[in-house]
Amino acid sequence: MINLRKMKPSDATGVATIQVDCWKKAYAGIIPDKYLLALDVNAKAKTWESGLSLNPDVIRIVALEKNVPLGFVAGLENRSSAFYPEIASEAWSIYVHPDHWKKGIGKMLLLAFIEEMKKLKHKTMIVWALEENLPARAFYEAMGGVLQNQNQTQTFGGKSLTEVAYLFHL
Ligand SMILES: CC(C)(COP(=O)(O)OP(=O)(O)OC[C@H]1O[C@@H](n2cnc3c(N)ncnc32)[C@H](O)[C@@H]1OP(=O)(O)O)[C@@H](O)C(=O)NCCC(=O)NCCS
Repeated sequence: MINLRKMKPSDATGVATIQVDCWKKAYAGIIPDKYLLALDVNAKAKTWESGLSLNPDVIRIVALEKNVPLGFVAGLENRSSAFYPEIASEAWSIYVHPDHWKKGIGKMLLLAFIEEMKKLKHKTMIVWALEENLPARAFYEAMGGVLQNQNQTQTFGGKSLTEVAYLFHL
C-alpha cells in the first residue's frame, strides 16, 4: 500500500536517489550524457536536507511503500511569474522512481499537491516540462493540464532545451 506524507530529513537520500534515477532514465538522449553521469545522490540529498530546514513552507510530499520513498512532489509559489504572473502556484518537481512508473503514484502525488494549493486558496497552478519529455507531457495532459503558448529555455551541460508549460485550474 502506498502512503503519502510530508517529506522528512530522513527521506533525503531516498528522494535524491529517485531524482537521479529519474533524470538518467527520462532524460537520456535529451540532456547530454556527461551532465547525467555527473549527477550525485549525496549532493542532492544534502540539498533536500538543507532545503527542509531553510524553507519549511515549501510543500514536499513523499509517496512511500513499506517506508521506502517511491516518489515525491515539491513546490509552492509560481517561480515563472515573468511569463505567467497571473498563475499562483507551481509544482516545481514531481518524480516517481522508474521502477514504479504508470502505477498511479504520480497521480496520487499531484492530486495531493493540488489539495495543499487549494488550502492556500490558490486557484491556478503551472508545471514546466522539457518539450522533448513526451511521457511527462502525456502525464500532465492526462491530469488535465492545458498547454500554454509561452515557452522558456534551460541549459543543461551546454545544451539549450525548451520547456513548455501546462496550466491547471484548481
Ligand atoms: C511523469 C511521472 C511523474 C508520472 O508518474 P506516474 O506515476 O508514472 O503516472 P501515473 O501512473 O500516476 O499516471 C497518471 C496518468 O498519466 C498517464 N500517464 C503517465 N505516464 C504516461 C506516459 N508515459 N504516457 C502516457 N500517459 C501517461 C497515465 O496513463 C494516467 O492516466 P489516467 O489517470 O487517465 O489513467 C513519472 O513518469 C516520472 O517520474 N517521470 C520522470 C520524471 C519526470 O519527467 N517528471 C516530470 C518532470 S517535468
